[in-house]
Amino acid sequence: MNTADRMKSVQPSPTVALGNKVAEMKAAGEDIISFTVGEPDFDTPANIREAAKKALDDGWTHYAPSSGLPKFREVIAASERENGIPCDASNIIVAPTKHTLYMTCTALLNPGDEVIIQDPAWVSYEPCTLINGAKPVFVDSSKTELHFTPESIAEAITPKTKMIIVNTPSNPTGVVMTEAELKGIADLAIDHDLIILADEIYQKILYEGEHHSIASFDGMFERTVTINGLSKAYAMTGWRSGWLISPSHLFGEISKVQQHSITCIPPFIQIAGIEALTNTSAEVSKMREQFRARRDLMHSLINALPNWTCSKPEGAFYLFPKFESDMNSMQVAEKLLTEAKVAVTPGSAFGASVDDHLRFSYAASEEVIREGIRRVGTVGL
Ligand SMILES: Cc1ncc(COP(=O)(O)O)c(C=O)c1O
Repeated sequence: MNTADRMKSVQPSPTVALGNKVAEMKAAGEDIISFTVGEPDFDTPANIREAAKKALDDGWTHYAPSSGLPKFREVIAASERENGIPCDASNIIVAPTKHTLYMTCTALLNPGDEVIIQDPAWVSYEPCTLINGAKPVFVDSSKTELHFTPESIAEAITPKTKMIIVNTPSNPTGVVMTEAELKGIADLAIDHDLIILADEIYQKILYEGEHHSIASFDGMFERTVTINGLSKAYAMTGWRSGWLISPSHLFGEISKVQQHSITCIPPFIQIAGIEALTNTSAEVSKMREQFRARRDLMHSLINALPNWTCSKPEGAFYLFPKFESDMNSMQVAEKLLTEAKVAVTPGSAFGASVDDHLRFSYAASEEVIREGIRRVGTVGL
């Protein structure tokens, strides 16, 4: 039986495949240290778990309105207004963050449209573009210190360009985009009548500098879909709870995708989400400070190894070091896994320009970080 042609160019998620392999090796009793995970190792804060349990007992177990519970949408809108985004509850659709990306691409892209994506970038932007019949156009940022610059984006714009995806702080690099970079990209979007998809899921995991939401700039709210969520800052990956913010002229088309796919996210999860956004800021700061200490530790340990160099990113929970070797990133990742029992993600999973990098997640204890990097140092490149 024939399957859809457009799926033939879509590869399975390399990070999911790697995670499965590590889980299998651990289950077989191997002493693996994994720096592959894209999720906090902390438990979801207790007040959030309690709110979900109470919501279940209170009967929040039926369908919710498709765009989300009114109260949750209001709380989200209030938190996004703190980023300067001029939204209200009517601009919010509650959904898993990854699904908000899918909904936006499905509702806004036509076959043949071009979508400009940074190289390197998070693994799901390219497949989501391809699934919807559009064409990803990559902008190499390996020569601009992994920054996605307006100058390099300008060179990639053609009459077919429809959308630019920006992600700050970035997965995999941890780089935080500057206000000037975002303003430059906003100018391009206005000049060429483009949509911006702004992925801000790591917004609250920021150690230095400032977060800027591109939708807060003059003239940008109308052409930006911002996506965000609870997974990373609140240690809530398994809860599958996030949101998008859409201007009203795009909202109807995007919300149709939600209505005809997942319908809604569970209401007891949304009640817990209200608790997360209103009563958890101390816990979020505590987790961020632990991430900061781990970042500093892992950064200094990697830089002390011969053949490795690593910049210190301002956000997210990844380091993206460069190695000197004749091997490519997949070969080095395989060598680390077999010889040192350390799992990391090859740079090639995130883009062709960074095949001399590996992504290390520091969502792990300081003890695990010390032992893992010690092991990395025993492997010859
Ligand atoms: C940059 C980025 N955006 C979006 C997501 C999706 O988040 P969620 O798992 O909450 O759907 C991730 C998850 O790894 C991510 O790294």
